[in-house]
Amino acid sequence: MKNVLITGVSGFVGRHFCRYFLENKFHVTGVDNLVKFTGAIDPNKGWPLFNPYDFKYFKFINADCVEWFKKNKKKKFDYVLHLAAIVGGREVIENNPLAVASDLTIDSNFWQWCLTAKPKKILYFSSSASYPLNLQKKNYYRLLRENDISFKNNLGVPDYTYGWSKLTGEYLAQICYEKYGLKSVCYRPFSGYGEDQDMNYPFPNLCKNIILSKKKRKVEVWGNGKQMRDFIHIDDCVMGVIKTMDKIDNGEAINLSTGKYTSFIEFLKISRNIIGNDFKIVTKKSKPVGVFARGGCTKKQRKLGFKYQVDLKLGIDKGINYLSKIIN
Ligand SMILES: NC(=O)c1ccc[n+]([C@@H]2O[C@H](COP(=O)([O-])OP(=O)(O)OC[C@H]3O[C@@H](n4cnc5c(N)ncnc54)[C@H](O)[C@@H]3O)[C@@H](O)[C@H]2O)c1
Repeated sequence: MKNVLITGVSGFVGRHFCRYFLENKFHVTGVDNLVKFTGAIDPNKGWPLFNPYDFKYFKFINADCVEWFKKNKKKKFDYVLHLAAIVGGREVIENNPLAVASDLTIDSNFWQWCLTAKPKKILYFSSSASYPLNLQKKNYYRLLRENDISFKNNLGVPDYTYGWSKLTGEYLAQICYEKYGLKSVCYRPFSGYGEDQDMNYPFPNLCKNIILSKKKRKVEVWGNGKQMRDFIHIDDCVMGVIKTMDKIDNGEAINLSTGKYTSFIEFLKISRNIIGNDFKIVTKKSKPVGVFARGGCTKKQRKLGFKYQVDLKLGIDKGINYLSKIIN
């Protein structure tokens, strides 16, 4: 039986990977210190979609991974998924950049630990926020390609401290391969979403407000709602990783994306058709919106054998159905 370590296991992405690996008979060790204002949910209080304690090979360690790395220098794992991070949605990224910068501490300790523990394969979770901002502007944007970031030839300015720390993490992945032979692959998820995501993220928040619009007759969007994202369902993020994780060893990056841009206004129009309820769209200009257009090229993913399956309409339908049972 193979051993997997997941840091940040109690977060949105961590819980989904944990489920996949447990259902596929891996031993899963999850380390998470349940940081406030992140997507963390304590497994002892119940996770929304499944109970990890139904599986006897689940072990949860409530600890700061930085401390855990120091005390467990030689623990052996087949796969390590490093997800622990302070993210917290757009407001945290823009208004609390130094809290997010603590990801630099987490990641540098992570890579130090990898040097001694030598996991067989490291999956580092970077982000689409590491891409250059000048390719995501209203007057010029295009789908972002993995080689738009090259530590040998060209680097642009990434998105706030979040993008900088992910870019640094990717750089360390390459250094660790070149200098120490550590095998890794970096993932750049775009706007990952799912019904059990924290309410600080646009997807569940919009779904909640669409449900409430039956009474309120209106839904608010941040900014003018024209900003566009590449929404990828969490099930596709998991499958994208599973299908590609053994195909790259040298720390190169892979997008997790659909290649489709959807504005928030379009998102609401799709939802209006699903819910069959005519609500007014109200723009909230004071809120931070981030870049104008962020979408990821899918060529490399396809070449490696992965194509997304869940289209946004189905994803929204699932989200509204799930949240309707909780909210009403
Ligand atoms: N969700 C997405 O769409 C998306 C997109 C791009 C990148 N990512 C990356 O995927 C990873 C997971 O994201 P998420 O959406 O699940 O976020 P999340 O906030 O839901 O989960 C992060 C988890 O990390 C834990 N954590 C933070 N600091 C820790 C520490 N020092 N020790 C142990 N645990 C710690 C938190 O308690 C939380 O459970 C992050 O690295 C994020 O940057 C996610």
